[in-house]
Amino acid sequence: PAPGWSIPADVVVVGSGVAGLTAALRCDAAGLNTVVVTKARLDDGSTRWAQGGIAAALGEGDSPEQHLDDTLVAGAGLCDEEAVRILVTEGPDAVRRLISTGAHFDTDDEGGIELTREGGHHRRRIAHAGGDATGAEISRALVEAVRARGLRTIENALVLDLLTDADGRTAGVTLHVMGEGQHDGVGAVHAPAVVLATGGMGQVFSATTNPSVSTGDGVALALRAGAEVSDLEFVQFHPTVLFLGPDAEGQQPLVSEAVRGEGAHLVDADGVRFMVGQHELAELAPRDIVAKGITRRMQEQDAEHMFLDARHFGADMWEHRFPTILAACRANGIDPVTEPVPVAPAAHYASGGVRTDSHGRTTVPGLYACGEVACTGVHGANRLASNSLLEGLVYAERIAADIARDQTENGLHARVPEPVPYSEKPAHPLLGPEARFAIQRIMTEGAGVLRSAESLAKAADQLQRLHTEARDALHENGKTAEPGVDTWEATNLLCVARVLVAAALLREETRGCHWREDRADRDDASWRRHIVVRLNPDRS
Ligand code: SIN
Repeated sequence: PAPGWSIPADVVVVGSGVAGLTAALRCDAAGLNTVVVTKARLDDGSTRWAQGGIAAALGEGDSPEQHLDDTLVAGAGLCDEEAVRILVTEGPDAVRRLISTGAHFDTDDEGGIELTREGGHHRRRIAHAGGDATGAEISRALVEAVRARGLRTIENALVLDLLTDADGRTAGVTLHVMGEGQHDGVGAVHAPAVVLATGGMGQVFSATTNPSVSTGDGVALALRAGAEVSDLEFVQFHPTVLFLGPDAEGQQPLVSEAVRGEGAHLVDADGVRFMVGQHELAELAPRDIVAKGITRRMQEQDAEHMFLDARHFGADMWEHRFPTILAACRANGIDPVTEPVPVAPAAHYASGGVRTDSHGRTTVPGLYACGEVACTGVHGANRLASNSLLEGLVYAERIAADIARDQTENGLHARVPEPVPYSEKPAHPLLGPEARFAIQRIMTEGAGVLRSAESLAKAADQLQRLHTEARDALHENGKTAEPGVDTWEATNLLCVARVLVAAALLREETRGCHWREDRADRDDASWRRHIVVRLNPDRS
């Protein structure tokens, strides 16, 4: 249906994690009329679930250069060095500004920020809050700041599509809003700048650390709008997710890398530390190497999981340093103080996303992306632990500065754009809500930690069948699923899954978190390059 209501703005920010709210606060501070829209409540995204922390060269003896080196090594030859340099040099001040906004980090005895280690970092450089509740604290501080400044927010607003004007410039977004009073049903925010900060797509797999809202909505919207998307094959699987049984589905409790950073050991059922000897950093090797180490050992021993042993921390340390993880384990009948914790890898982070330049600009004028939805080039083939909150902060600030500059210099400020009429857009085939589980099963079997040409080709076929059925039902019989959050989410999941599988099939090598069983080696001669996808607008 055509939008039943519309509101004008200078900028609309879609999403309310660290990236979205930082961008919104900075745009507002620059005098831009800013509207934040978010699919559920303001604090329902992935940021709130982040445990380990935020990486920045804040410690004595550390430097942005060393942070850069660790990030490039983890990224396995595909990081954009300039993008990483921006991240690590602007990062420390961005963290200090986050503290001025109201976030409280854990401090040491001298009152300095306490730093821990995680996989791939050669130094202690991870700032944390509430022990292992860093994201929850950042989210609290940013949500409070947004409320204190009186920013306009619309919750329960699922973003549908990008609006563009006759010149192909961004003109706003359409939304499906439920239960928000005057802005209910399908509506639009008309604005010359749109910031996508919709987070990741972990829900494309059966087991993930991501909340249920992480359904790739921003990447799917960008694809439908004809923006370039890059590196989707690089899905990061977190090595240590609490194992709740082979059939566990949906969001699973994370056991932070920081637990290993403080000295926990990964062991098999015989108590053998199998990461020792596989990498100089053993359990603290970059995440892809640890996830592979665990998966290999599980295969060798025909086991469903490995164990994380941190009994030597003792009750005091568990309670004070890792209260969230302790509570999650105990809620599931495991006591880490007295027994090793069963863990297995699960989908965690999309290293790829909507392709941007160093100011967060996508290939569609006026459309920006930041946070997990974006591919700024800082993560390459595998994100370094705790670089994601930092990326959200640093690039959100750069985006706000760019929008402010663009709108002032080009006179876009206070101009409400005129979108191409909605009626000229073709109808989109929507999937039924049950398709979500089919997609998750297909992706877990065919495109999980370990992939091959055969498994990926089978997944591609199965996904294509789902797409063809939905398209034919619409075009031949005029039938499509009822528009709503669950049907749009299933449709978006299918859209990103198809591109992810196509890219994973194309990349005939093993690199970073893309592990091809049939192409075991990294092939720099052919594959030190990116797979960039662009669809014809409205033909996804
Ligand atoms: C963790 O705490 O292990 C997650 C940190 C991250 O994904 O960067």
